[in-house]
Formats: sequence, structure tokens, C-alpha cells
Amino acid sequence: MLRGSRREEPRQQGAGATVAGLARLRVRRWLAQNEIMSVRILGIESSCDETAAAVVADGREILSTVVASQIDVHRKYGGVVPELASREHLRQIVPVVREALAQAGMRLQDVDAIGVTHGPGLVGALLVGITYGKTLAAALRKPLVPVNHLEGHVHAVFLEAHKAGRTPKLPAVCLIVSGGHTVLYEVTERGAQPELAVPRAPETFQYRKIGQTRDDAAGEAYDKVAKLLGLGYPGGPILDRLAAAANSVPPPVKFGPTKTRGNPLDFSFSGLKTAVLYHVREHPEYAPEIQSREEALARGERKYEQLLPLCSPQTLALVREFQNAVVRDLVERTMAAAEELSVESVLVSGGVAANSQLRATFEERARAKGFEVFFPSRALSTDNAAMIAAAAYFRFRANEFADTSLNADASLKLA
Ligand code: KG4
Ligand code: ZN
Repeated sequence: MLRGSRREEPRQQGAGATVAGLARLRVRRWLAQNEIMSVRILGIESSCDETAAAVVADGREILSTVVASQIDVHRKYGGVVPELASREHLRQIVPVVREALAQAGMRLQDVDAIGVTHGPGLVGALLVGITYGKTLAAALRKPLVPVNHLEGHVHAVFLEAHKAGRTPKLPAVCLIVSGGHTVLYEVTERGAQPELAVPRAPETFQYRKIGQTRDDAAGEAYDKVAKLLGLGYPGGPILDRLAAAANSVPPPVKFGPTKTRGNPLDFSFSGLKTAVLYHVREHPEYAPEIQSREEALARGERKYEQLLPLCSPQTLALVREFQNAVVRDLVERTMAAAEELSVESVLVSGGVAANSQLRATFEERARAKGFEVFFPSRALSTDNAAMIAAAAYFRFRANEFADTSLNADASLKLA
């Protein structure tokens, strides 16, 4: 039982360990009294432009999940404005947490711990969630569990698999691909800790970073290309659908595989984005349709059905060629890593994991090579708090708590 744990020095955040120490004692007592009851964690996420809260039982059963997106606030700027993001989080955090508790049929006092994202992300945005999480933890005398946002994205895959009664086998390679990140990890089981044997064995993972983008994240490239083509923000979902609508018109330009010197598992997307920009600049025939789409966006007509008639076959073929290049790069490097490391599964998470062509290509390639591939649903691919509560559970079981000195870490590393 955890009661008998001899793990005396769990990771602590900040200097004063008293609050975290007390939290540990309370957790041990709680576990001793409630061995068969589930642990319900309130997750809070505010690292970028979604204010989210969720309640997850035992790290895998989603009792509620609420996401307040700020897309409408940032849309007219074509990207996330950090100051506006912080202000929106401040407005949303209390109602979002209340809604998550209401949907789970719980009161604040029923929560066993609070898990909060403390990085990576925008400092001002992170601080809203952290401050609220710390305050709740102190007022309710509940443990506070700091969560790395990237670890949340890994757990999103496990949450989804759990719904289908499955657990991805480790070792795995995990591609996290979003508007802020494009990174490849090897995920393995953390060393067995027999003294921590608990009724539901904690699946704690360890990570090794094996590749990352040298410049833009893939989602960022989608957003920038959509912006320069007059297709609005965020770019991923609309480009995804327009690429699928391109018929067999030959591409107006060809984008070859991106070569990166050094680590062959590193990514690079800024060259591709610039190639699209130069192509569009060199071909004035794109200008009138870009202008007509920008006018449509200004009228609030940003839906796929409204923008599709304003796209020439040449534009659709350009979008398809751009997407082919992004998908090819993500899939090739991830599959090369999977083969090199002889893993059991391939995990894909983050906003761009919602891309239909990426999903189909991964399925096809993984099947051909005998790997199992796992994605979260679209709702769990983009930022949410269920993944934060899930990741928090395993840190909770491993006694990893924070005290009131917990701070935001904009460039927090997972490995
Ligand atoms: O994970 P996420 O919600 O936030 C970040 O942590 O960045 O990801 C948002 C990103 C945006 O860049 C968006 O354009 C991209 O994910 N995205 C997509 C799709 N849906 C969202 N990219 C490609 N295809 C999609 N279907
Ligand atoms: Zn994210």
C-alpha cells in the first residue's frame, strides 16, 4: 500500500515543502481509508487559448470536461494574443470550473486533488490557472498536483483508448503536434516501484525526446498558410477540408521532402510555409480570390461551405500539396522512429492530430508495418483539462505535489 511507501523525497516544486508535506500525509491517510474508492481529480488547463476544467476518476474515467475556447477573441489577429488570452482566462476560469463540477454532479469538497498545468505555455495565461488551482487547494486543504501540458497530451491518447477498453502497449513513440509544439518522444514505463504497489497500479511513464521542430510547429504552419491565403483562423480545420475537396487537378507547385541536417528525426516547417508564400507572391492570379475570401471573412462568412466556392481549383490543389508535404513529413519521421526503436505502438496527439489525412496516413502506414496507432478523438486532441486531470492522477499516486510557491514555467520540458 502507498501507506508503507518509503519514497521519502518526492519531487517538490518550490522551496517550502510544508504544505506539500502535509498534502502527502493527508493523501496517505486518505488512501488508507479509501482503498477501493476512486480518486477524482479536478484538472485545470489555461496554458494557451482554451480555458478548461474537467473531473476525471482514477486517471481514466472522464466524469466531465468543459472547454471555453477563445478563438473568437483571437481570430481577427490571426493568432493568439497573450494579453488577451490572460484576460479571457480570468473571465472564464470560475464559470468553467463550476460547470465541470456541475456536470460531474460534484461539489468542490468532493474533489480529491487539483491538477493544474504549470507549463509549457504563455506565462500570463498559465498563471491564471495556477493561481486559481493554488487557491482552491489551500482553501479546500486538498493536494495540488503540477502537470506538464505535454504529458497531458500523452494521456489524452490513453483516455481515448480507455473508452474502447484498450491500453496502448509500451514502449511507444508519441508525436505531439499542435499550434505550439511538434515533438517526438519515446515513452516507456517508469521503473517498477514494488513499494508503491497500489490496488490500481500507477502507469507512470518516462520520456525521451527524440525529435522536435527546429522552427515552426506544424499547426503554426497551417495557421500561417491559411492566413496568407485568406482562409481565416485557425487554419488547420479549414485547410484539412479544402485539401479533401481538391480533385485531380495537378498541383501548381511541388513541395519535396524537408531535409534537416543533424538529427534525422527533427522537423522543420518554416521553409514550407515560406515556399507557399513565395509561390503565391509570384502568381498574381491568386490575388483576386484571396481578396474575395478576406472580404467574406470580414462579413463573418468563414465556414467551409462559404469559402469553398471562393477557392479556385488551383488554390485547392495548392492546399492539398501543402497538406501532403506536412503529413508526409510527420508520418515519415514518426514511423522511422517507431521502426528504429522497435516500439509496440505509435501515439499521435495535439490539435493537428485531428487532421483527417494525417490520421488516415498513419493508420495505413502503421498497419503495413505492424504497429498499433492511437489517436485521441478530436475533442481530446485539442487542448482540454481531462488530459491534465488524467496526467495528474499518476503524479498523485506517485506523491508528487506542489506547494503555494508553484510558478509558471513557459518552457517547461518533459524530457
Ligand atoms: O493543441 P491545440 O488545441 O493548441 C495548441 O497547443 O497549440 O492545437 C491547435 C492547432 C492549431 O494550429 C490548429 O490550426 C491545428 O491545431 N489544427 C489542425 C486541425 N485542427 C486543429 N491542423 C490540421 N488539421 C486539423 N484538422
Ligand atoms: Zn496543447
